[in-house]
Amino acid sequence: IDITKLRASSGGVITIDPGYKNTGSCESAITFLNGEKGVLRYRGYSIEELAEKADFLEVAYLLIFGELPTKEQNEKFHDDIKAEAVVDEDVKKIIDAFPKAAHPMGVISSLTSALTAFNPSTVDVDSEEDMYNSVVRLLGKFPVLVAWTFRKKSGLPLNYGDNTIGYVENILKMMFKKPNGEYEQNKILVDALDKLLILHADHEQNCSTSTVRIAGSSHVGLFASISAGISALWGPLHGGANQAVLEMLEAIKTDGGDTKKYMAKAKDKSDPFRLMGFGHRVYKNFDPRAKIIKVAADEVLEDLGVKDPILNIAKGLEKEALEDPYFVDRKLYPNVDFYSGIIYRAMGIPTDMFTVMFALGRLPGWIAQWREMRLRKEPIGRPRQIYIGATERKFVPIDER
Ligand code: ACO
Repeated sequence: IDITKLRASSGGVITIDPGYKNTGSCESAITFLNGEKGVLRYRGYSIEELAEKADFLEVAYLLIFGELPTKEQNEKFHDDIKAEAVVDEDVKKIIDAFPKAAHPMGVISSLTSALTAFNPSTVDVDSEEDMYNSVVRLLGKFPVLVAWTFRKKSGLPLNYGDNTIGYVENILKMMFKKPNGEYEQNKILVDALDKLLILHADHEQNCSTSTVRIAGSSHVGLFASISAGISALWGPLHGGANQAVLEMLEAIKTDGGDTKKYMAKAKDKSDPFRLMGFGHRVYKNFDPRAKIIKVAADEVLEDLGVKDPILNIAKGLEKEALEDPYFVDRKLYPNVDFYSGIIYRAMGIPTDMFTVMFALGRLPGWIAQWREMRLRKEPIGRPRQIYIGATERKFVPIDER
């Protein structure tokens, strides 16, 4: 059906699908997922295999450019990113101007947008080379912004990374290096973070990714498009869920640890409370990422010797939900955010930084989707609506109202 002709001949045919539950916004060759069967693949490779065998930057390269990098491509990619792992010193002034209590997602989305001002050449990207340059710039600079946002919040001096170590370890080192330069390397934490970032790296046309594609479709630059995506990710129904999970678990603990009481609240339709970290728009069976992350969470807690009562509450809720007809009938399983918060907490990352860590992981996916949208020369995203407001009305002057 040629929808344009149909619309013209009928005076306007518009489909309405609130929440786009059954509406595709684009064709994409990046991520495949089958929510019923719990399958997630990046460029055809299973998430299980990538999480086990690849590192985060290899996965980033795969998502963005479509193929796993050769050794040489990998090295060049890494070197190009390292060369960009600095930001203009004036950015520190912007960070200083934020109140200490500012939510890190607001800070990081503003800083990402502000990067455009310091990198104006990233706006007009017509060639693949321009795109590559913007991509490595962002992958280099974003972790610095993340670390600085965290350090400002923690009252620590802002520092640069160590170009002699891997991308993910460098992120941890930038965040946690003590003012005297001390930093304790922990391979289990680095591996767990690497895995978490891989699991978050893309998830096809979710809310933030669709936002990146739609903002980018107006040909605004990469950094501004990503900044829009970060804002979309912030909400508790999307990336903000990992923060909401921890806050919920803490509230349950403070309230005496009675998980059954909160299960009942979640099922009570007169109560807006939902069990955070349960349910997913597309995984109506199980979230394959949650399975992988659950194992990583156990490893981290065992290694650090953390006996966290919060984890017991989490496990209690999971067990009860898996046996409860309300959750079973609605296919509400723990999602990736349910366990990621536990790992971040064990790493010493404050709760309101969790969604920033999610953004760090999602960055390659957003970039890949933006690049695909530009290379496919997609038209500007401009949905229609069905108007339900007043018909024509006569204006009444203010004195007569
Ligand atoms: N707790 C209790 N009931 C729930 C939950 C929950 N977490 N999630 C869904 N339900 C119920 C709804 O009340 C509804 O019940 P009904 O059919 O009796 O009216 C039914 O399950 C279907 O729910 P919808 O809201 O229609 O499902 P949808 O696919 O639109 O929403 C969502 C998915 C937003 C993730 C939802 O499950 C939710 O709010 N979960 C909690 C927040 C969360 O964990 N978000 C993270 C998402 S994953 C991510 O962004 C990486």
